[in-house]
Amino acid sequence: MSRFRTMFTAAAGTLALAAFLQPAAMAGVSKADAAKINSYVESNGLSCMGCHAIDHKVMGPAFDAVAKKYKGKAGATADVAKRIADGSSGVWGSVPMPSGQATPAQAKKLSEMILSLD
Ligand code: HEC
Repeated sequence: MSRFRTMFTAAAGTLALAAFLQPAAMAGVSKADAAKINSYVESNGLSCMGCHAIDHKVMGPAFDAVAKKYKGKAGATADVAKRIADGSSGVWGSVPMPSGQATPAQAKKLSEMILSLD
């Protein structure tokens, strides 16, 4: 058990380091759009960026990957907003996103901003 724990900790450390070493350049995403999301999250005291980043996967999907996935899909803004407010599982992998990360109104605003990333 403790051996497993050590291995797990090492793996998590490597993942965190890999995320940290990602190039800062955000291919395709405007810095202004990224800054808008970061400042909204921060000023509303939300913890999104503990699990997400704009341009690379952390625990949850990169926000630019979310924008890409739903590009041109009707109703996507409402669907994604619902998953931000109510939590999500099985869309991106086996790790679920817990509910209660944002109010429905905040989730709607965040969904609009995330889906408008290029
Ligand atoms: C505890 C970690 C965690 C936090 C905090 C968190 N998320 Fe997530 N998020 C995830 C995971 C994991 C997924 C993938 C869930 C899945 O596969 O369905 C996800 C999925 C998403 C998606 C994709 C949903 C879809 O419809 O495909 C969006 C958008 C998102 N999160 C936005 C946010 C925002 C905005 C916040 C802050 C209000 C937030 N997340 C907070 C972990 C988190």
